[in-house]
Order: sequence, then structure tokens, then C-alpha cells
Amino acid sequence: MCGIVGYVGEKNANEVLIAGLKKLEYRGYDSCGVVTLSDKHFDITKSTSRIDSLEENLKDAPKSKIGLGHTRWATHGGATENNAHPHVSSNKKFVVVHNGIIENYAKLREMLKKKGYKFYSDTDTEVVPNLIDLYYKGDLLKAVKDATDALEGSFALGIMDVNEPDTIVGTKRNSPLVVGVGDKECFLASDFSAILKYTDKISVMENDEFTVLKNGGISFYNNELKPCGKDFKIMDTKDEDTEKNGYEHFMLKEMNENTLTVKNTVEAYLKDDEIEFDLKLTKEDFEKVRQIHIVACGTAMHAGLNGKNIIERLTRIPVNVEVASEFRYKDPIIHEDDLVIFISQSGETADTVACIELVKERKIKFLSLVNVRESTIDRISENVIYTKAGPEIAVASTKAYIAQICLIDLFAIYLAKLLKTADKKLIKELMHEMKTMHVKVQEVLDNSEKCKEYAKEIAGASDVFYLGRGVDYYVALEGSLKLKEISYIHSEATQFGELKHGPIALIEEDTPAIAICTSKRLMSKVVSNIKEIKARGAKVLFITNHKNLHDEIYDEIIEVPVTDELLAPILTVVPLQLIAYYVTVEKGLDVDKPRNLAKSVTVE
Ligand code: AGP
Repeated sequence: MCGIVGYVGEKNANEVLIAGLKKLEYRGYDSCGVVTLSDKHFDITKSTSRIDSLEENLKDAPKSKIGLGHTRWATHGGATENNAHPHVSSNKKFVVVHNGIIENYAKLREMLKKKGYKFYSDTDTEVVPNLIDLYYKGDLLKAVKDATDALEGSFALGIMDVNEPDTIVGTKRNSPLVVGVGDKECFLASDFSAILKYTDKISVMENDEFTVLKNGGISFYNNELKPCGKDFKIMDTKDEDTEKNGYEHFMLKEMNENTLTVKNTVEAYLKDDEIEFDLKLTKEDFEKVRQIHIVACGTAMHAGLNGKNIIERLTRIPVNVEVASEFRYKDPIIHEDDLVIFISQSGETADTVACIELVKERKIKFLSLVNVRESTIDRISENVIYTKAGPEIAVASTKAYIAQICLIDLFAIYLAKLLKTADKKLIKELMHEMKTMHVKVQEVLDNSEKCKEYAKEIAGASDVFYLGRGVDYYVALEGSLKLKEISYIHSEATQFGELKHGPIALIEEDTPAIAICTSKRLMSKVVSNIKEIKARGAKVLFITNHKNLHDEIYDEIIEVPVTDELLAPILTVVPLQLIAYYVTVEKGLDVDKPRNLAKSVTVE
């Protein structure tokens, strides 16, 4: 979604801002802009195209040592230059970049209009510089505080005053903002990856705090504008980790990192024959759990479904998986002893964050599985287990999903071991399998040529079916999401058993259908289902770990290595990710930055 970068220092601000905005591109945007300040004048440049074209437009721009940059993901008003940030007050005195949504903007706009302020855009943001102007009595920080007191909704803001050539003010509420410090320079960013090239020393802003970046120095203030100290942390992510490193696309790089991701995630928590997590939850806490709720969005929610399968099978504790945007508004039924598990790659997903606040308010115990350290979810959760995927840049999540399912598998085994709910031999076998799983993942990746060939066959399709039963259906959901989000081919995941209740009506000559089966118990049922759709013309790709199948039941086959049925999704999802990738490449589309999508969904 929207991204912010700000700079005050000795360098050419435009260069720093463009480098930062390029790092924020992965979040998804449809317009961008920068503002610098020199000779008491704001220079604002905007583009409704990519950052490269903004950079081109800035070639002859005056050099300045201070500025703000923004990538906009349109919410209020179309993706036009007029609506792109930065936005200035009517009198051109204050300039603002904003992430989030100002929910009471219409009321504020009317009030400001009555006071003579003129508006030029359709955005909610434009009220902010004008409000600051309204409240300004010679103290920028105080005016920002008074303006934000009037705002409802979510925001991260970077603000400049035309009369203060060395100052940026930043503040946030329910939208991330970090501050970075270098040698006589300081930075503001919505995501630390934007400034990692220049500094790894970062402090994370809390809601309703203020920061003033001035002449290479940084000060922080609480909501009463009293100075407050804040810690700076050294981030362990390196700028190189967020580069393509020779791969054509981030998604390809990240799928190739599936192997290392599985190895790192398993080795972090499974040592010898013990699984250990650094949790404040005790054995007694877990013993009391009557139901587990898993709450997440998109791919992370699909990882949660995989968790439901393995947790229920190993512990017999019922697991309810919910989409965060539904959970937050349904007054969920949660018993005081229940456990809620949140899953998020970015740690910033607005709906998931809101659900955590809800659960915290009710004093329910919860645990968060997060990939990005120092993200909002990481900081607001007492119990966190980290997925070890490293930075994921492509909008389509691949290695983070694999890390999430590995981690939830480990958690299920840990819980079953702790509560003694599963056969010891099975637990031992599962742990043994997990230790060597990365080798099998690599085997699937080594077979990617088959996926590439198949992708060519279906690249022209308008609908693709993904079919499975049980946990294979959960993987089908993820495969289907991956295809639709980057290739724009409509796809649908259906349980095999549900076909006859409706979806089979859509099967016609040459409809591509991807069938997944890793269950011994369900194989004969799946074979019958496949025959039914083949009889109606479907062309079936079968993804399975069963050997020596009669070739009349499929048109194409991709075999994955054998593993325990509970862990099979770690392997079966890999060809599905590869197929989505190669279809998109075949169609010549932007793999890493699909239209309309954002990497971290920081507004609801
Ligand atoms: C993944 O391919 C998707 N782009 C998306 O569904 C994503 O998984 C979802 O937005 C949740 O994000 P999170 O894991 O960062 O919370």
C-alpha cells in the first residue's frame, strides 16, 4: 500500500528519496511523488507511472538536503497526478505525505471550506496540511499535534513547513512509521527497507508519538508533547537481502529460497528431538485450551487452514480458522481459556492487527506467527514465533507461506508432544521428516521444467480449477489464489466432493483442472472424481506423491516426493507456485507487482 520516505541530511535529497521509493515499490502503488525544499519554496514532482519515470522527471530538479517521497495506492480519488502525494495547504505553507485513511475527512473538509480553504484533489489527505495551517500559531509541532487530535482513522504522516528548511515532523496512528539515523542525517519511512541502504539503526514510532528530524538530529515527543527517549535497534536485515541478486523476478528468487526457508525455520526450533519456542504460555495454559482460533488474511489464512488440519489430527483440539476482516466484526465467540493464533508475513495487515487488539481487550491468550521483526504485530504480541523466510518482496507470497506451514506444523507437533495427545512413534517420525524436508523441497524445485511446460498450455485459459480433498483442498486454495493474483486468470478451488453440487456445470471441453492428492485413504475417491471431470472434457494435471498410477486418469502428472500426509502441503504447494509464476511470465505480465494489489495491506 502507500509508502513514505523522508530525508534530512547532507546528501541530495532526491537521490535518497528515489532510492527509498524504489525499495517501497513492492508494497504496491499507482502513483508517486516527492517534495524538496529550497529557497523557501517547495518543489513537488509527481507521476502516475513507475518510480523510474518520476526519477526521469527529477533529472533537472534543484538540489535540496531535505524532502519527502510517497507511493500512493489509491483509496479516495483515482490514480491521477492531482491526487498523488505530497499534498500542500491552500497557502502552500505546509506539505504532507500520508499513509492510511482519514475517516472523518468529509466533515473536516466542509469545516475548512467554510473557513476559506480551497481544495484541489479528491483525497482524504488534503485536509491534513490545511488543518495544520488552521492550528499553526508559530509552533509546527503543536500545530501537527492539534491537527492529528482532530483526525479519525489511521495515518502515518511526514510534514514539512516552507519556513523551516531543515525540519520534518512525523507522527502515526495505526499505520507504521519508523525513524532511522545515520551520520549527520536522519530518515523517516513507513517500512525500514526503504532506508536500509543508508542506515540499519532504526526506532519504531508508537501511536500518537511525534518525531522531529532536524539538522541530522532526532527528537521524540509523547502525546502531551513532552520529550521522550526512544531506543534505536540495529536491524539484522541487510539491504542486499531485499535485492533480486541476479534473478529475473523477486518471486522466482523467493521460490528458490523455499529450500533454505524450510531448513532455517525447522532448524530454529527443532533441535535433537525437542521442539522449543520462547513463549510465556505455560503447559497449564495449553492444557486449558478448549478451542484454537486461527486468524489471518489471504495466503496466511491458507497456512492457518493447514494448521487446522494438523493441529486437529494431532491434538483433537478443534480449530476454527477465520479471515481477519470477518472475525473483527462478528463479535467472535471465544472462551476465556481458548488460544488465538495470528499469522502474518508483514506483521502489518490492518485487519489482523485489529483482531489482535480485540483479543487483547478480552484478555484472551494469543500467539502470533510473524515474518517481519519490529513490525506492528511483532511489537503488540507478547508471544511471537518467527517464520524464518527473510524479506519477501514479491506481492505473491511463496517462501513466507512455506515458512508459515512449516512453523504451524512444528507448533502442532510441539503441542501434541506437550499434551501427550499423539502416538510417540508418529511424533518421532514427523520430527524426522521435518528435519529432512528441505531436501525434498529442493527435489520439487529441481523439477520446475515440467511446471514451465504446463504453464504454456494453460496461459491462454480463462478459468482454471484447483481440486482436492482435506488438506489437499487447502493447498488448492493457495494454488488458485496464486494464479489469480498474478496472472489474472480466473480460478476456483473446490473440494472434490462438492463438484457435483454445482461447480461441475462449468467443466467443458479442455477446461484445465489441477487435481491434488496426497492421501492414501482418499485416493480411490479422487480417482473417481477425476474420471467424472475427464468424462466432461476437463484436461487434468495431477499433482501427487502416489507412484505407478494408471495414466488414463490424468493428462499430465507432477510427482512430488513421498512424505507424511500431514506434512505434504510443504511439497505440493511448490509446483502450484511455479505454475502461477510461469503462466504470468508467459503472459508477459508484471510478476512481482500485480495490478491493484499491495504487499502489506495496511488499511482495511
Ligand atoms: C499473498 O500472495 C497475498 N498477496 C496476500 O493474500 C497476503 O497473504 C495477505 O495480504 C496477508 O498478508 P500478511 O501475511 O502480511 O498478513
